[in-house]
Amino acid sequence: MLHDNIEQEIALLTEADRRARAYTAGIGHRPVFPSSDSLEGLSQFEEELPARGLGDASTLALLDDAGSPAAVESNGSRYFGFVVGATLPVAAAADRLVLAWDNGALGQVTSPVGAAVEKTAARWLLEILDLPRESAVGFVTSATSGTLIALASARRTLLARHGWDLDRRGLRAAPPLRIVTSALVHVVVKKALRVLGFGTDDVIVAPVDEHGRIDPAQMPELDERTIVILQAGEVNTGEFDPFSSIIPAARAAGAWVHVDGAFGLWARASAHAALTVGVDAADSWTVDGHKWLNTPYDSAMVIVRDASALTATMTSDATYTQADDDAQRNRTMEFSRRARGVPVWAALRALGRDGVADLIERTTALASHGAAGLRAAGYTVVNRVVLNQIIAKAATPQETLRITAAAQSSGAVWFGTSRWQGDPVMRISVSSWRTTTEDMDALVALLSSLRT
Ligand SMILES: Cc1ncc(COP(=O)(O)O)c(C=O)c1O
Repeated sequence: MLHDNIEQEIALLTEADRRARAYTAGIGHRPVFPSSDSLEGLSQFEEELPARGLGDASTLALLDDAGSPAAVESNGSRYFGFVVGATLPVAAAADRLVLAWDNGALGQVTSPVGAAVEKTAARWLLEILDLPRESAVGFVTSATSGTLIALASARRTLLARHGWDLDRRGLRAAPPLRIVTSALVHVVVKKALRVLGFGTDDVIVAPVDEHGRIDPAQMPELDERTIVILQAGEVNTGEFDPFSSIIPAARAAGAWVHVDGAFGLWARASAHAALTVGVDAADSWTVDGHKWLNTPYDSAMVIVRDASALTATMTSDATYTQADDDAQRNRTMEFSRRARGVPVWAALRALGRDGVADLIERTTALASHGAAGLRAAGYTVVNRVVLNQIIAKAATPQETLRITAAAQSSGAVWFGTSRWQGDPVMRISVSSWRTTTEDMDALVALLSSLRT
């Protein structure tokens, strides 16, 4: 419904804010995964498209009254799923302002404020992750889309080095490229490769050691037609590929090295930076905001050392709109886009170097604390817990799955499962700024009580 005056609009926003505040105040007091009653309430959304608008107030009320109880409390302290953190209040608050501006932040022409803030966020990101300062940063929606963009840039660049103008001649008859990935490459990297038109036959899989790191002794031979994809933070163990052994040789051979650092690259901003030694020698990187930096969702960064490689690949200049090279629409997928680098800026500014290091170090220490508790409770902790990831199992696979299901339906905590060396494992990620020692102890106490 259109508003005839700004007061009505403000009243609606105030009501939305009241409801959002009530939701936030309830964090920690509702089931981490919604109850079956709450899930049943979602049937209220199965309405017909109204012929006549039902109005703002009732729309907001339905969303909150039926929707909020069915939200997963991933914004809480006892959600240990999918390496995602809660959102930092300042990052969520900054996003509210971005919504109020409603700028299509494709560049200076449509959003001077978006362009200025994202430019600073990009500079700070390179500083805090200590990556080559000349790199270009695109603020994207996810590590998935960042990976797609980085690999598209890699392909275009390698083909250009072979004298192949991809923009003009397309892929048909282009010199073949090959991909080298870890045997434990994340599924979204496989998706990015598939979407870009690489088949599984184009991929050579590098074997990994017992920690999930590529074994450098078993790396295939690399050449100037190869894109190598390494991991900073394996999704189960949180381990790092041996960058110093692989990257210099790969680049000397003329290969392009991309690093999937969706969560693990943040280790570089902490006392655990030694885990990442040599990662800065790569050509491109992806890292999420919405995981370990605790920004709201749709927040990730693609970083490409050769800024012109990214811009040339993603350019969307048109006769009616030219932009500076660092315009975000020439570094990301979208033309029209929200200034999604703003919450990243807000998080970095409010936390500072110390605050980011503390977030990473505290959650890593909490993971070690939880792992010790689980061992004491009779579980096998399968990984070394070098970061914020714990993978653990009970005496038998059936027991592991039974306990996980019971923990999930308890509403007290939530974590997912994975498989490690053939066995189902509990996958517990400690990524939220809210999580405390008490939360870890509650998790351990629950899992302890669920053992038979
Ligand atoms: C190592 C790794 N890469 C990529 C992704 C995908 O990230 P996004 O959900 O931002 O696309 C994840 C998410 O779990 C991950 O852990």
